[in-house]
Amino acid sequence: MGLDEITTAKPHDRLRHALARELDAVNALIAERMASRHAPRIPEVTRHLVDAGGKRLRPMLTLAAARLCGYDGPYHVHLAATVEFIHTATLLHDDVVDESGQRRGRPTANLLWDNKSSVLVGDYLFSRSFQLMVETGSLRVLDILANASATIAEGEVLQLTAAQNLATDEAIYQQVIRGKTAALFAAATEVGGVIAAAPEVQVRALHEYGDALGIAFQIVDDLLDYGGTEAIGKDIGDDFRERKLTLPVIRAVARADAGERAFWQRVIEKGDQRPGDLEQALALMARHRTLESTRATALDWAERAKSALSALPDDPIRDMLVDLADYVVARAT
Ligand code: IPE
Ligand code: IPE
Ligand code: MG
Ligand code: MG
Repeated sequence: MGLDEITTAKPHDRLRHALARELDAVNALIAERMASRHAPRIPEVTRHLVDAGGKRLRPMLTLAAARLCGYDGPYHVHLAATVEFIHTATLLHDDVVDESGQRRGRPTANLLWDNKSSVLVGDYLFSRSFQLMVETGSLRVLDILANASATIAEGEVLQLTAAQNLATDEAIYQQVIRGKTAALFAAATEVGGVIAAAPEVQVRALHEYGDALGIAFQIVDDLLDYGGTEAIGKDIGDDFRERKLTLPVIRAVARADAGERAFWQRVIEKGDQRPGDLEQALALMARHRTLESTRATALDWAERAKSALSALPDDPIRDMLVDLADYVVARAT
């Protein structure tokens, strides 16, 4: 990247550039550890998903946090790979649960192979992630990442019972996304600080940044399911089909008149969805301006993320993390 490109590039591209050497090491470690000598289905499935790319946001967060806190050892690379393995495992499972057909611009593994392969290879990746984190020798990072894994699963299960239920409110929604998404963002940044033996106020600030960034990220992901384009690499409208109560829907339901409420009851509670219903849902969201208000809420979380960073050393990496918070809300993919 030339100087001009560096100043105009998207924040995650600038982070990727600043962390290029370490990120290469992370990708090499991922490639090495996703292999299996005994079950050829494993590298087939993992290669399909890993070669498709992905933004590598979470491992970049770990590397950035460690760098920001002055770490000069080798283990932030293990931790970054651990975090991406956990993420990849949850994606394999998530696409089974959500019956999704597209991920990272490719058909999902559950579609190309089957649900059984996705579940089992996901389990394998989870286990590989534990092996990787043990190599750091830090019980504290084990504690943080083990907790995050349990919290992700809790979030996904809570979402399962909150779906199709019009009584799901904003508090439950926040609990779901904080669990299924923000827990891994927060762990990713926190372990970067912990491995660098950063002061506790910095470790706490990193956790807070990751948590708020993850919440903003998932709110926008939910927004893109209604307002996005195919460029996101996933099918649009999956959440509506799955009858999920995401923030734009929760707010439209809260403002619904009797007729509108009957519509939501039919499509979300009864699951009786007909052609044109997605368009009708979008019209109701437009009427109550819930896509706009949802974006405003994501912006609030991005602001919270940015203010957490004030406890961290003044550094170009910190500036990139600030910009990343803005970008997460502005992103279209
Ligand atoms: C997808 O995360 C899962 C969510 C938390 C919405 P990303 O959008 O970071 O996925 P990849 O790794 O870039 O594909
Ligand atoms: C993402 O959930 C969170 C996890 C993978 C645990 P979603 O189901 O909302 O994410 P996408 O839209 O499929 O990436
Ligand atoms: Mg999904
Ligand atoms: Mg899901």
